[in-house]
Amino acid sequence: MEKMWAGRFEKALDKSADDFNSSIHFDKKMYKQDIKGSLEHASMLCSVGILSSDDLDKITNGLLSILDDLNSGALTFDENAEDIHMFVEAELTKRIGDAGKRLHTARSRNDQVALDLRLYMRDETNSIIVLLKKLIGAVLTQAKSNQDAIMPGYTHLQRAQPITFSHHLLAYCMMFMRDITRLKDALARMNYSPLGSCALAGTTYNTNRDIVAEKLGFDGVCMNSIDGVSDRDYCIELESAFATVMMHLSRFSEEIILWSSWEFKFVELDDSYTTGSSIMPQKKNPDMAELVRGKTGRVYGDLMATLTMLKGIPLAYNKDMQEDKEAIFDSVETVAKCLEVFIPMIETMKPIKENMYNAACRGFINATDLADYLTKKGMPFRSAYKIVGTIVGRCVKENITLDKLPLEVYKEYSDVFDTDLYNEISLETCISKRISKGSTGYESVKEQIKYVEEFLK
Ligand code: ARG
Repeated sequence: MEKMWAGRFEKALDKSADDFNSSIHFDKKMYKQDIKGSLEHASMLCSVGILSSDDLDKITNGLLSILDDLNSGALTFDENAEDIHMFVEAELTKRIGDAGKRLHTARSRNDQVALDLRLYMRDETNSIIVLLKKLIGAVLTQAKSNQDAIMPGYTHLQRAQPITFSHHLLAYCMMFMRDITRLKDALARMNYSPLGSCALAGTTYNTNRDIVAEKLGFDGVCMNSIDGVSDRDYCIELESAFATVMMHLSRFSEEIILWSSWEFKFVELDDSYTTGSSIMPQKKNPDMAELVRGKTGRVYGDLMATLTMLKGIPLAYNKDMQEDKEAIFDSVETVAKCLEVFIPMIETMKPIKENMYNAACRGFINATDLADYLTKKGMPFRSAYKIVGTIVGRCVKENITLDKLPLEVYKEYSDVFDTDLYNEISLETCISKRISKGSTGYESVKEQIKYVEEFLK
């Protein structure tokens, strides 16, 4: 196929260079957005008198028929085309003749691709937000039905203080809620139309960029045409937000992997989200969670690739920028795939409350509460902390837990100890007495559940 720009050249592009240069095998994903943008561009050109209404009719019908045929599969992408923009324009001209050649008036591929990618990423990001809401809903459902499940909370992966499984899960709800607001922030900042920036300098035609922007659902136009065609900040912001989503999913995955091991057995994953081994008959592996954790690296890589691609290029458009698409497509598709498998994995996960409770009984996780007991009776916290530390040391040696240590022994360390200490350090008390906002206390957890529910409304 002859290139649109062939007039300037004496020789055709070498086949290897042509293949190297072509982006249609990945930018064909944006055909709907490309056609949508062209429809609005054409109708604007007509409204300001640049296109006749006869040409507009032909262009509109032609573009809509291409859209239908691509949707139905009646038309397939010509992999020899340079990119999706050239493909659609060539197909249009094939179908409607000269009117098709008028479409590209007062437009360049530079502003066209900038527009298409914004439209495409806006759609994709909104789908990710829907998935994140579903995920929060799934985690919240588990949180609601596990408000009484006491487990050890950890720091340094060492048992630290008693918490409820519900409280722990709600921490993930907070992360995914921030992910949504982060994506919405990025969407708001990128919602300006680059179309009409043309190659870089704007145009001599009397176009109306604002109408096109409004029709395409933008909040306005990019105010500097050079920036309009060379800005890819939104790719970086979205990739960064996606990388953060993956980091959250990866931390959650790591915990699920630990929890489903025999060493913890806090949860049992459903058979439909686990795999077996080719040699070890007993194995049930958390492959989905491991893959999510593993795929996090490539989403980080996509962000790095885009940042690095942009760092050295002068204004305005450079072909380097064609590399923006594969990275951001991979980023958003990976996040979507991970969420699609993660959500049902969470929905079907069965918590084993008994094992959580047994783990909470060992490890002296009520030691802080014992120190607080002495402090509330008037002892300075540091002194109480030291006494309890000494008692824990003794218990470790004697292989006994704090709740089993007789009162006489406690009295050896301080007269302040009395029989009420045993109630103070029971795991249920440790939870119910946590009254600070955001804490693991039963009431606080109920408040957090409401907070998440409000967010989802
Ligand atoms: N396929 C190109 C891209 O993705 C479209 C823009 C081409 N513009 C140009 N002047 N070569 O970036």
